[in-house]
Amino acid sequence: MKERTLLLIKPDAIQRGLTGEILARFERKGFKIIGLKMLHVSKELSKEHYAHLVDKPFYHDLEKFITNQPIVAAVVEGKEAVEVTRLIVGPTNASKAPGGTIRGDFSNSTSRNVIHASDSKETAEKEIKRFFKPNELFEYKLNETFLYASDE
Ligand code: PPS
Repeated sequence: MKERTLLLIKPDAIQRGLTGEILARFERKGFKIIGLKMLHVSKELSKEHYAHLVDKPFYHDLEKFITNQPIVAAVVEGKEAVEVTRLIVGPTNASKAPGGTIRGDFSNSTSRNVIHASDSKETAEKEIKRFFKPNELFEYKLNETFLYASDE
């Protein structure tokens, strides 16, 4: 079941030079990166993306953090991409994230937790459209010979 999901590599990860390390984990898992860009998040885009959080006491800090420095947005495609990506990323509170997950290995914080990943297929569809135009997503062949059996 091929799916697509959105990743945002947050400013803390960019500033720590973790972009390549984070993307490599998705590539090594067998996911295909079909969209990739660096951008500045505007306050408007932050309010749209985190609409469910604008009334939370931490929203001001979140907006300042996410808009202050560039992020890297990526679309990854592959088998059960939404759920598997969330497992690779680990829980929001990185101090509770298991070792081996991205947040578990690189963060100990809920607010500076290095990466965002869409939390459902419906959210992924909306979030991909929010950050990528259709012509910014690419189709190409990944050599899957050693990744899946022929009936998968
Ligand atoms: S999640 O991961 O989307 O299911 O979690 P959710 O609770 O919906 O979103 C929380 C996002 O807000 C960021 N954030 C904080 N959360 C909790 N407490 C504090 N103080 C806080 N500051 C920022 C948190 O990193 C989640 O961001 P995303 O980008 O969704 O992972």
